[in-house]
Amino acid sequence: MLLDIMHMSISFQRFSGGLTRKKLTPVSDITLSVRRGEIVALVGASGAGKSLLSHALLGILPRNASMTGSYSFKGMPLGQNDFAKLRGKEIALIPQSVTFLNPLTKIKKQVYRSARLSGRCCCTADECCNNTFTRYQLSDAVKSYFPFQISGGMARRVLTATATVSMADLIIADEPTTGLDQAVIDQSLNHLKELATDGKGILFITHDLESAMKIADTIVVVYNGKTVEVFPTSLLTTHPEILHPYTRALWNALPQNTFIPLPEEAFTVSHQSVQDCASSCDFISFCPQASSHCQESPCHLFQKDNHLTRCIHAAN
Ligand SMILES: Nc1ncnc2c1ncn2[C@@H]1O[C@H](COP(=O)(O)OP(=O)(O)OP(=O)(O)O)[C@@H](O)[C@H]1O
Ligand SMILES: [Mg+2]
Repeated sequence: MLLDIMHMSISFQRFSGGLTRKKLTPVSDITLSVRRGEIVALVGASGAGKSLLSHALLGILPRNASMTGSYSFKGMPLGQNDFAKLRGKEIALIPQSVTFLNPLTKIKKQVYRSARLSGRCCCTADECCNNTFTRYQLSDAVKSYFPFQISGGMARRVLTATATVSMADLIIADEPTTGLDQAVIDQSLNHLKELATDGKGILFITHDLESAMKIADTIVVVYNGKTVEVFPTSLLTTHPEILHPYTRALWNALPQNTFIPLPEEAFTVSHQSVQDCASSCDFISFCPQASSHCQESPCHLFQKDNHLTRCIHAAN
């Protein structure tokens, strides 16, 4: 196993009026794992905690954040402070926004720096940079451009190049296809597939179940900062085997299915305290299967057939 995350929670201390402190827990119980050569899609709505998870894995959470849970990378247990040491060397990020590129540094220098930081010597770093530019169809001219001189699609490819030129075995791709046209989306997804074929583990963060279905081996569905279901993508056939009502709602919202979206309130996040996280199901107000039992029983993640799920109805 490359990466194992058990019960990740991320909290923030905020001052709310005077000196009163308030604890917010946007991520309260995320469990997932990634193997070498595997693409794991982390699927969830806006605000579900996907980017926070990626920032935690890179050790770039803000100072007022604290983290609990148990973590291991390549079989070695990790503490909260160990992730920063792996950043760029063992774990690399294709970030959500092109603003992650340094606006004042030329493209080649940024990619080269990433190669050097990951531990490559100056000769191999230069060669790897050139190979990576060719691989992602970035012409020689692009090397001397500043980020404002390249198109959005090109910037996406530069971000992919920056992450993959490193020697990292785990690549986190945070919404790499947002705002791109279909051809560029397909190209970006193919790049991720190639990296997995090369033996890298890929954590593909997306709000789009359809993109996840195209390339992922495993789908992890998060709702309100918690893993609600984990299952192999192969189960999403014409008669999908889905156990959690939220995953079913995402499935139903696809154009090729019933095309019924969830009400907007379903995504309004109420960040509970960690103590409350096991008390009842967060999806209860929108769930067609909801019963008094859902309110009374703690909703832990449990194994059922090929799934991990958090819905108590799946236990029967
Ligand atoms: N520094 C912070 N302090 C307090 N709350 C934060 C902080 N950063 C993020 N959050 C909250 O954590 C929640 C999850 O944020 P995150 O950026 O991880 O969402 P996301 O799932 O990546 O959403 P999107 O799909 O829109 O990118 C949000 O409600 C956000 O307001
Ligand atoms: Mg995000």
